[in-house]
Amino acid sequence: MKDIRDRVALVTGASQGIGKATALALARAGAHVALVARRPAPLEEAAAAVRALGRQALAVPADVSDEVQARQAVRRAIAHFGRLDMLVANAGVYYRSPIRQLETEILHRSLAVNFYGSVYPVVEALPHMLSRDEGHIVLVTSMDGKKGIPPDAPYVAAKFALAGFGDVLRQELHGTGVGASVLFPGRVDTPMIADLEVPWLSAKIPPEAVARAVLRAIRHNRAEVIVPFQARLLYALQCAAPKLADWVVRAFRLEGRPKSPDNA
Ligand SMILES: NC(=O)c1ccc[n+]([C@@H]2O[C@H](COP(=O)([O-])OP(=O)(O)OC[C@H]3O[C@@H](n4cnc5c(N)ncnc54)[C@H](OP(=O)(O)O)[C@@H]3O)[C@@H](O)[C@H]2O)c1
Repeated sequence: MKDIRDRVALVTGASQGIGKATALALARAGAHVALVARRPAPLEEAAAAVRALGRQALAVPADVSDEVQARQAVRRAIAHFGRLDMLVANAGVYYRSPIRQLETEILHRSLAVNFYGSVYPVVEALPHMLSRDEGHIVLVTSMDGKKGIPPDAPYVAAKFALAGFGDVLRQELHGTGVGASVLFPGRVDTPMIADLEVPWLSAKIPPEAVARAVLRAIRHNRAEVIVPFQARLLYALQCAAPKLADWVVRAFRLEGRPKSPDNA
């Protein structure tokens, strides 16, 4: 989708971090935006920031891990704007737990938000986009969806699942006017990992850099986008020699260090 101006986008997880930066980047490129997240106050603030850029915004408070709410949010956006051209499924939560101490409830919670929370909006938006034979879907997974980092198993499992879903989605959409991209960011400077100190090799990039990558993915119909460059190197190493990639994770302590002991 080369021209974003006057198109309509829905962004989940738009109240802060990457989602908010993406909503604003889309608005700057001329799109109108439906913003979805659970907390109404920061969501309304983000919507106001979109309006301040001269674009229309609709704040839709919803929990995307709830299928009814997630689907309703998409329907509300389509009813309000009369169309939906872009869906950025971005809402997510970071769950870590060593597998030896894993309470499977954490795995369920991670999958509920990080996997199903993206899948529900996609299955609701897809018939609308296909009926108009145009649109673009971006799934925001994580570098953790290419190379697992201990002790992130609950998060990694959900992000790998979403990446697999996106891989099939893109192929099934081949030949239609609807595109799909999967985004794999490394560490990003957002509230999600504000409490995590990370080594220089996986230094946090600004959420605006990820937002720019989302727009590139939409405009150029990219299959996959890995940002930043170091994350691409780690993935290349993982494909060539997984045990060497494991060594890099250990040697450079890519798991990071929680600043407060409560989160260790
Ligand atoms: N930060 C990183 O280092 C990093 C790296 C790679 C990938 N990512 C991925 O990028 C995406 C955005 O992350 P971020 O760093 O911007 O995180 P963030 O700052 O914590 O923002 C997460 C957003 O998701 C929303 N959200 C969480 N649970 C939700 C739910 N059940 N229903 C609806 N909205 C929900 C939050 O709003 P409410 O709390 O108001 O619902 C918030 O707007 C996530 O998928 C994350 O996994 C992040």
